[in-house]
Formats: sequence, structure tokens, C-alpha cells
Amino acid sequence: MSQNNLSKHLWTSQFVFIMAAVGSAVGLGNLWKFPYITGENGGGAFVLVYLGCILLVGLPVLLSELVLGRAGKANPVQAMQYHAKNNKASKFWTFIGINGALGSALIFCFYTVIAGWAVAYFADSLQGKFIGIDADGVAEHFSGLLASPMQLLFWHTVVVLFTVYVVSNGIKSGIEKAINFMVPGLLLILLVLLGYATTTGGFSQSLEFLFTPDFSKLSWGAVLVALGHAFFTLSIGMGVMMVYGSYMKDNVSIGKAAIWIAIADTVIALLAGIIIFAIVFANGMEPGAGPGLLFQTLPLAFGDMTGGWFFGTLFFALVVMAALSSAISMIEPAVAYTEQNWGWTRGKCAWSLGGFLWFLGIGTILSFNEWSDVHFFAGKTFFDSLDFLTSSIMLPLGGLFMAIFMGWVLSKEVRENQLGFSPVLDAALMIALKWITPVAVIIVFASNLVDSSN
Ligand code: PHE
Ligand code: NA
Repeated sequence: MSQNNLSKHLWTSQFVFIMAAVGSAVGLGNLWKFPYITGENGGGAFVLVYLGCILLVGLPVLLSELVLGRAGKANPVQAMQYHAKNNKASKFWTFIGINGALGSALIFCFYTVIAGWAVAYFADSLQGKFIGIDADGVAEHFSGLLASPMQLLFWHTVVVLFTVYVVSNGIKSGIEKAINFMVPGLLLILLVLLGYATTTGGFSQSLEFLFTPDFSKLSWGAVLVALGHAFFTLSIGMGVMMVYGSYMKDNVSIGKAAIWIAIADTVIALLAGIIIFAIVFANGMEPGAGPGLLFQTLPLAFGDMTGGWFFGTLFFALVVMAALSSAISMIEPAVAYTEQNWGWTRGKCAWSLGGFLWFLGIGTILSFNEWSDVHFFAGKTFFDSLDFLTSSIMLPLGGLFMAIFMGWVLSKEVRENQLGFSPVLDAALMIALKWITPVAVIIVFASNLVDSSN
């Protein structure tokens, strides 16, 4: 059957594609969320469960998304339209694409605000505002930022302008250029910080915390958190990997690319954990500090250390680069859809969508101050509603249906063409997609709904 070929762009090389996908995967999920949920859930045993989720559910769904994207050669909506028709399946499957383009755009509306905190912290650290700060000082600093709509709006605007500017320039002269310096920069900073972490007194304690599993500390709820995070951290279920896959050349090995993306994302999350907990333990602080771990515990620790100004500023530069390279990928599905479907220029698509999402992001900003008592959905603020709708509903649903489509609907011929797996490997993938992923996601999904209705 004929190829879709709506996409006019292709990545320059396999290496650039992998860097862009790693840039999308590695973000606030790795540096902010992974360390604090690991801290809250007791360390080692949680890490082990998380690794299992990445391998058994994350990797198979990532492979599926890349296959559906490259074989569909278009934005997620039109790629799924094409696959449905090609496999004589119901039009319903287009839902995967719509859910993805919409969901990733909605994540953008709060991700850019939190990325804005990181930019603000980078600027503050650079100016030496954390030097010698005490516990009350960091708490005040954090709550002061959240209480100020104008400050939040300023940094949110900076993040959105940068992101939309990059995306408006297209794949080769926009995304690739940004990725080419951000991803290597990110890796370099991470290595410097790792070296620094070994010199702090908390290094071995950190390793012990992360890699000695104590299953008595593991709850059922923690398993669900680990699975949900496996989706978020790999940027899967949202059409992001699908649209990045649609720009992939046909001779690139999807299997190898997926393995590299999963390994890079996992290793970087673990390194971030090692670094952060080394600093936490070296200063006698608590690993279970929750979402404030990155924004309160760390400035406090850095403020008290020799070299803290330099390494603290470097650390927030790392968070900023990781967050921006993820934010870029979040509007790409919707931008590609409007570009390929409405026939607008890329610049017009990026700036009008970006403007609209920037505006919605103001709702996120107000959730932390003026609207902190305004509830939108099941007693949740605007920010919590967006987070719940995307992370707990749209993302697992997207992943579930991608796995089902790839496992039960997509022709074997297309799959073999795209993957070129050995029979044994293919059989293993099919078991994961047909059974393991659907069962796991349905359990998570159901328990999330039960949770939120209590
Ligand atoms: N994977 C990114 C992170 O860990 C977040 C993300 C989610 C990016 C969904 C794109 C789509 O921060
Ligand atoms: Na990630």
C-alpha cells in the first residue's frame, strides 16, 4: 500500500535522532520527579520495580511508537488514520493520535511553568542568592516564587518563547540545532556533578539507599507510581516518539535506537538520584522531602558547601537544558498536525499554538497563588487537574491502545519490515504488547481512578 509521506522533514542522521529522542525523554521526570518519588518510596526496592516497568512495559511501548511513527510517515493523527485504513481496522484508532497531540500539548501547559522555576533558580544561583542560606531562607525563597504570579509569568514566558522559537524553525534548523548543544552539554554537566558527588561525604550512603532493596518498604501504591512514571519519563503514550519516529530514515534500526533511548533515560535518572542523595546525605537531610527536594533541599545543601555556588549553578543549568529539550518535543505532535493538515507554514503553526498554550499556562501559574482554592476537576486546582488528566488518564490510555494496536491489529509484515527482529525476539515483544502491557496499564488505570474518587 502507498506510503503516507505527509512529513517533509527527516533527521540528518541516526545519531541526531537518538540525541533528540534522549533530549525529549530526559527532563524534569529524571531530575526532579524520579529522585523525589524514590525518596518518598524508600529507595532500592522502588528502583528495582521501576527498572522492571521500563523493561517490560516502557521498552515495548517505545518500540511500538517508533514503528507506528516511521511506518505512518506523518503526525500522530494522520499516521493512525493511515494505519487504521491500511489494516482495515476501525477509524476509532485515530483516537491514539488525537489523544497524543492533545495530551502532549496539555502537558506543555504545566511543564513550561515548572521549567520556569528551574530557570529562575538558575538565575538566582548565578547571582549568589543561595550562598549561606538557611532552612527558613530556602523555604521562603520557594514559597515566595510560587506566591508571585508576575515572577512565574515572566519565567514561563521566557521558556515558552525559547521553545516555540526553536520549534518554529523546523526539524533541521530548529530542533536539531538546539539538541546538538543541549544534550552533550547535559551529559557533560552530569559527569562533572557525579565527580563532585563522589567527594561529598554522602556518596556511599547514596549508593546504598538507591541499590539495596528493602522490600518491606515497598507498597502497592509505589508499584503504581513506578509504572506511571515509566511512561512519563520515556515520553511515551503521547505521540511524541511517534512524531519523532516519523522523521526517521528507513535504514535506521528502531530496535537499537529504542534501547539507547531507554538506557540513556534510565542511567541519567539513576545518576541524578546518586548525585542528589549524596548531597542530601552529606548534609544530614531527609531523602523523603517530596517535590521540594530539588527546589528546597538542594539550594540549602549547595549554599552550605565549598564550591556550592559553582556546582549549584551548574546543577540548575542542567535542569534547564533537560527541561527545555523535553518541552520542545511536547508541542511537536500538535505543530506537525496543524502543519501537515491545515497547510499553514510551520512558523504560523508553532507561534499560534504556542501562544494559545502559553495562555492556558497562566491557569497553572494561578493555581499556586490566586486560584489555589479554585477547583476545576474532582477537588483539584487547575495544575493538579491538568497533571491528573494527562499523567493518570491520557498517557496510560495512549500507551495501552498503542500496545493493543501494535500487538493485535498492525500487520506482521509492517512490523517485520520496521523492526527486523529475530523470531524469538519478536515473540517476546508480542507477549509484552498483547498481555503484559495491557494488564499492567489497566490495573494502574483502575487504581488511579479508585484513588481519585476517594
Ligand atoms: N519525558 C519527559 C521527562 O521525563 C517528559 C515528557 C512527557 C516529554 C511526555 C514528552 C512527553 O521530563
Ligand atoms: Na525522562
